[in-house]
Amino acid sequence: MSHGVNKLGVLGAGQMGGGIAQIAAAAGISVTVFDSFPGAIDKCKGVHKKSIGKFVEKGKMSQADADAALGRISFVDKVDNLTGCDWVVEAVVEDAKVKKDLFTRLAAMYPDPKVVLATNTSSISITEIATACGATAGRVVGMHFFNPVPLMQLVEVIPAVQTDAAVVERTIALATAMGKTPLKANDRAGFVSNRVLMPMINEAFYAWMEGVAEPEAIDGIMKLGCNFPMGPLRLADYIGLDTCVNIMNVLADGLNNDRYRACPLLKQLVTAGRLGDKVGRGVYTLPAK
Ligand code: CAA
Repeated sequence: MSHGVNKLGVLGAGQMGGGIAQIAAAAGISVTVFDSFPGAIDKCKGVHKKSIGKFVEKGKMSQADADAALGRISFVDKVDNLTGCDWVVEAVVEDAKVKKDLFTRLAAMYPDPKVVLATNTSSISITEIATACGATAGRVVGMHFFNPVPLMQLVEVIPAVQTDAAVVERTIALATAMGKTPLKANDRAGFVSNRVLMPMINEAFYAWMEGVAEPEAIDGIMKLGCNFPMGPLRLADYIGLDTCVNIMNVLADGLNNDRYRACPLLKQLVTAGRLGDKVGRGVYTLPAK
């Protein structure tokens, strides 16, 4: 089945939204990115240049293709200006109310149910987000990308209870056209990726808290012993410690099981503002640039 996308709308110019826009543009799709946060658009343009530049430097993309890809991406700072799209991917803050309000607005902006509304949520229920679209809930689907989007192979495809089968097939076709490998998961808390990854990261915080080993040793053991590209504590910094706590809360509440509660040490670091790479300090302190 063809995905049928000529123009993709992306809500959010952060790491995830920016990455999604980049790979879509590199796949030949025109993209418009919306973000209203001051400075977000300029930051995203800089990230695109740097990331695409890396592909050119490594001979994985020609300069002409890189320029063409960058030329396919436009930006708007008002959601009402995100017009003419035949597919929209939402990648804004992980807050169920914010997402549901946006989906209600999108459903009104795009009354044609053929326009698919996808969410890149990492753990919020797709079924719950879909309810915000009322009668056209069947076009809502989870399309979960991984950071850094240009390098990570997977797209987790999560149908809501309401999602039409044809929308799932088109999502698989679109992810494939973007150069990714789509794999399906059901709409249960954390889907597959975070159901398995987050408890492992949480356990690494327990190991540190209980003095089993220092962070460098925990990460080194998991890198060298399990061939992980990053140790679990380093990965927590990369993902964001606050995001890890939020996802653990979704697992504990959604699966109704306290064994998924966030480790006290992880929560304490978040309280102290040590949120990870985005603030320069989490488990580790990033070297000053
Ligand atoms: N675009 C282009 N190139 C990039 C890039 C990007 N966005 N990010 C990194 N690179 C390049 C680097 O510039 C570097 O290039 P050089 O070799 O020329 O220096 C190369 O990739 C390797 O990077 P690093 O040297 O920094 O380090 P690395 O070898 O460890 O690779 C990594 C970095 C790809 C991030 C790797 O560590 C990795 O795969 N880590 C695990 C990431 C992961 O698990 N992500 C999923 C997180 S969970 C999630 O996203 C979803 C959720 O719901 C929470």
